[in-house]
Amino acid sequence: MLDHGAAPPVVDTTTPKTSALGALTRRKPVERLVMEGGQGEGGSLRRSLSMWQLTMISIGATLGTGIFVVLGDAAPKAGPAVTISFVIAGLTALFSALSYAELAGSVPVSGSSYSYAYATMGELVAWVCGWCLVLEYGVSVAAVAVGWGEYLNELLDGTLGITIPEQISSPMGEGGFINLPALVVVLLAMVFLMRGAKESARINSIMVAVKIVTLLLFIGIGFLGIKGGNYTPLAPLGIMGISAGAATLFFSYIGFDAASTAGEEAKNPKRDLPRAIMLSLLIVTVLYVLVAFVAVGAMPWQDFEDTEAALAQIMTDVSGHSFWGVVLAAGAVVAIASVVFAVLYGQTRILFAMSRDGLVPRVFARVDAKSGAPRANVVIVSLFCGTLAAFIPLGKLADATSIGTLFAFGLVNVAVVILRRTRPDLPRTFKVALFPITPILGLLACGYMMFSLDIATWIVFGGWMVAGLVFYFQYGIRRSRLAIEAPAESAASTEK
Ligand code: ALA
Repeated sequence: MLDHGAAPPVVDTTTPKTSALGALTRRKPVERLVMEGGQGEGGSLRRSLSMWQLTMISIGATLGTGIFVVLGDAAPKAGPAVTISFVIAGLTALFSALSYAELAGSVPVSGSSYSYAYATMGELVAWVCGWCLVLEYGVSVAAVAVGWGEYLNELLDGTLGITIPEQISSPMGEGGFINLPALVVVLLAMVFLMRGAKESARINSIMVAVKIVTLLLFIGIGFLGIKGGNYTPLAPLGIMGISAGAATLFFSYIGFDAASTAGEEAKNPKRDLPRAIMLSLLIVTVLYVLVAFVAVGAMPWQDFEDTEAALAQIMTDVSGHSFWGVVLAAGAVVAIASVVFAVLYGQTRILFAMSRDGLVPRVFARVDAKSGAPRANVVIVSLFCGTLAAFIPLGKLADATSIGTLFAFGLVNVAVVILRRTRPDLPRTFKVALFPITPILGLLACGYMMFSLDIATWIVFGGWMVAGLVFYFQYGIRRSRLAIEAPAESAASTEK
């Protein structure tokens, strides 16, 4: 058994002892990553999550805005072939998922791709990766929370005939003053996350069950409304349309990696993390393809352009009762809230790992002894994301979540190749098939998707990266635990 109760060694955080070259060359040994698993400041995370709960965390973080909202944007681009777009986006995710599964099975910690990069490509690359994960997780929580507010309005409109006034449901610059619903859903998630992983996983599983049942209901009812003619022509906008749809829909797969942020709270991480990642991807892909197939069969693809909440509309039209549309909207509200919840969980655990390494303030690794939750971390992250969601018009920042995610996925594909070469001896509970072709294809797919994003997104991404590097060279490089604990080694390696 690993000793998760031991406090991390006290280190001198006052003297900077390293150089930029040291930051590039310093790697964290896999054994040390694993040995430190769970340890925080003043307490340890608890190992309570089963394989199913880990799968639910990944599904919780994945299935939401993409299928309930973004499908409506992709259908007019791809036509009925949007089903194929879902398959293509899913395949792109699959390459990276395989790499995630191999690394999660051999380095089962909570930092996800940040930790994998630290073990293989050095501290600076790890930091860049962790900084990208803040885009994937932290900023996307805010973006998803904004989408949640919109669906809540749909639901209120459909049930009570009221909508939340613009002034309190949009940020400044978009016609309002504050986006209160978005803030509320983040704060609600915060309250539940304060209870620790076990309780959080239980709440998450309930929400995931609700969203899966909602989509199954949609498939069942929508199936009755399928008209064969809606499928022809299958690809009215050709291959380009299908691939544009796939790029848009990639967003709907973001989150399958969330289980890899729970490595230090899993009962049997080496065995269960790879299974959870692959299983969650399989389940969401099947659901996406079926839902898309039924949706474009029941509603002409051109109509998606002008229909808000298309799935709810289809339910109402096919059943002839607005009740079923309201049921769908209610399911979507739960679904999107669960994405906020699971993604927020992931962000707190990634920062936990980064803080333990000294790259972000140590408060993020403080564990509440009673609940076993990193409570201070949960509060800070929630307030940050809640404030973003409430006051900032997210626009381009939301697009930037995709680019940050793709960058992190790309690095994971590189990390899996490096670790096979540097540590062939490491026990692996899951191995990428067709190595190294699969990770190379994964890397290429991520690069292709990144380069199909627009220039404005790249500018936002560039600005984000610069801010991250400034923070690292001002803060992390001086406080890195690896640098502080082995200054002599660092100095020696940089002088060579
Ligand atoms: N994949 C997540 C969603 O679709 C981000 O909401």
